[in-house]
Amino acid sequence: MDINCPLDKTELKIVNDSRIRRIVPTVRELMGKQAKVIMLAHQSRKGKWDFINLEQHAEHLSKHINAPVRYVDDVLGDEAMKAISETKPGEVLLLGNVRAIDSETAKGDMFMHAEGEIVEKLAPLIDYYVCDAFGAAHRSQCSLVGFPAKVPSASGRLMAKEMFALKAIFENPRRPSVFILGGAKFGDASEMIDRVLGNGMADTVILVGLAGNAYLLARGVDIGEASTKVLQDELTPENLQAAKDILSKYGQRVLLPVDVAVERDGKRVSVNIGDLPSEEPALDIGDDSAEKFRKVIMSSKTCFMSGPAGMIEKEGFEIGTRILMTAMVDSGGQSVIGGGHTGGAAERFDLADRFSYVSTGGGALETFLLGEPLPVIEALKYSMEKFGQ
Ligand code: 3PG
Repeated sequence: MDINCPLDKTELKIVNDSRIRRIVPTVRELMGKQAKVIMLAHQSRKGKWDFINLEQHAEHLSKHINAPVRYVDDVLGDEAMKAISETKPGEVLLLGNVRAIDSETAKGDMFMHAEGEIVEKLAPLIDYYVCDAFGAAHRSQCSLVGFPAKVPSASGRLMAKEMFALKAIFENPRRPSVFILGGAKFGDASEMIDRVLGNGMADTVILVGLAGNAYLLARGVDIGEASTKVLQDELTPENLQAAKDILSKYGQRVLLPVDVAVERDGKRVSVNIGDLPSEEPALDIGDDSAEKFRKVIMSSKTCFMSGPAGMIEKEGFEIGTRILMTAMVDSGGQSVIGGGHTGGAAERFDLADRFSYVSTGGGALETFLLGEPLPVIEALKYSMEKFGQ
């Protein structure tokens, strides 16, 4: 499963456990069938500040299934083996952060991973492999694609729900269709924009968050040193050129912010693009941008948002995201949001229940929307062909 959660930076505590809540139906169903449920999952990546063990995740899951979840901080060692052998029918065991094992993230396809040490050690101990990790379905990693080649496998309930819901909405989106791309990653934005505008899935793309800032830069706006620095290593000459190409290819179908919000003397201040650069980094879209985008969203019939418009964890800079999300649910059209942080923000604004669909996938959802195969789904299909349903 994908229970990779946002944490707060000081105490390293889970701040939103929606991904944990979403796998509860699968876990409960397996427990009800008297399965011995052995769970594998990751949190972040090695070397990142939020790469921690899964002890808290086990506590959260335990609370939501209303039953004990045993946690061992080990994946393949003696402690894990002992705990697996002690697990009784109907009980749940969560093993340690699977990305602690280097071969988990080694580059390779399902056949290579099927020979990896994780599968080699654990596959003989299990009867079935159930994958409910939609959020990581775009990753060809050992715990995700290696088992289906070795044991009969199935998708979990969340995975199936995600695939059916997203197919139903995006196969024939109602028009006009608007995509809002934001968040803290923008390296893949140009490819995504080209695909969704090119194949007609979207009529308009709104760029906010770091993608918005990067595209402003590509349009020749001097966003200032502080905002440019935040773009870091994703700001390659290739990415900048790709953004320029998108702007000249699609013109007004790609909407950029007309102002940004910065923190000045402890307050949120909107700065027009014409008045940039500013010394302070842009932390959100400005008030005029929010109003401009709100109108576009209100007249849409399908609206998709991936990634927030600003630094939602900072008070006053969640405003842009809140305005866009409120317009999405008020528009009366199909509204879909994706990504760990985006779903969490919708809950914080008390809007989550009003969306047509809230996906647990960020990168996985984008890969799906690009029409590219998801390695985990391909592996599950292979398993079905090999072992039957
Ligand atoms: C996600 O949050 O998108 C998934 O858990 C995958 O995480 P990753 O981008 O570190 O592979």
